[in-house]
Amino acid sequence: MIDDKLKHIAIIMDGNGRWAEARGKKRSAGHKAGSDALEKLALHAVDIDLKYLSVYAFSTDNFKRSKEEVNYLMDLFIEMFSKNYKKMLEKGVKVVFSGSKEGLREDVVKAMDDIVTKSQNNTNATLNVCLNYGGREEIIRAAERYHDDLVNGKVKKEEINRDTFTRYLDNDLPPIDILIRTGKEKRVSNFMLYQLYYAEMYFEDTYFPDFTPEMLDNIIADFYGVERRFGGINYEKDSR
Ligand code: IPE
Ligand code: IPE
Ligand code: MG
Repeated sequence: MIDDKLKHIAIIMDGNGRWAEARGKKRSAGHKAGSDALEKLALHAVDIDLKYLSVYAFSTDNFKRSKEEVNYLMDLFIEMFSKNYKKMLEKGVKVVFSGSKEGLREDVVKAMDDIVTKSQNNTNATLNVCLNYGGREEIIRAAERYHDDLVNGKVKKEEINRDTFTRYLDNDLPPIDILIRTGKEKRVSNFMLYQLYYAEMYFEDTYFPDFTPEMLDNIIADFYGVERRFGGINYEKDSR
């Protein structure tokens, strides 16, 4: 079903808290339900042959939340990466992270490093988990790496253009074809600003825990009906 036209889908998984509140539950219950929804979605993405899935798990700005909520999320990440992702590994998913490790708990960093090592030779699909992530911060990190390579003579200025610059980002990923944000808000909240440049955007009212693989399939079907011009003109169709 998926071909070369669609390589990379990114999801801003928003609405866990409101999902829980609507059910009279604690926000943590929403995060747990969100993590289950993500696992189902990621496994489905491999089944339909999507090569890259990026997900916004925790923004650097999310540290503004209560200690209780942040700690719950960090414990949940450890559980996800060290226990729940067995099926993901069996299906040949390579897990990578974008974001900064600075300021993260040691046990969280260990769980992240472990799953990266365990999955590093997998080739069926890549799951890029954005954790302690900000898009502007990623661009600054890339600029710093590029600067170091320039100063050390490892790269020539003329080798770098908007496509090759991606090698300095946290992960060298193809551009995002589809961005999905669940949970009603219509904003990007500092997510993958460099990679989103020609993404088709889908803003869904559904809270993330209720977002299903079928909903993903519907978005993909819609995407295949869109004419992407990348700044050009389709002369056969649009000539007047
Ligand atoms: C997204 O859901 C998950 C994280 C930001 C970690 P929220 O927790 O932002 O849920 P809402 O937006 O408050 O409903
Ligand atoms: C974006 O959601 C971050 C994640 C989904 C991890 P937020 O809930 O933090 O974004 P804002 O505050 O509504 O912009
Ligand atoms: Mg939110």
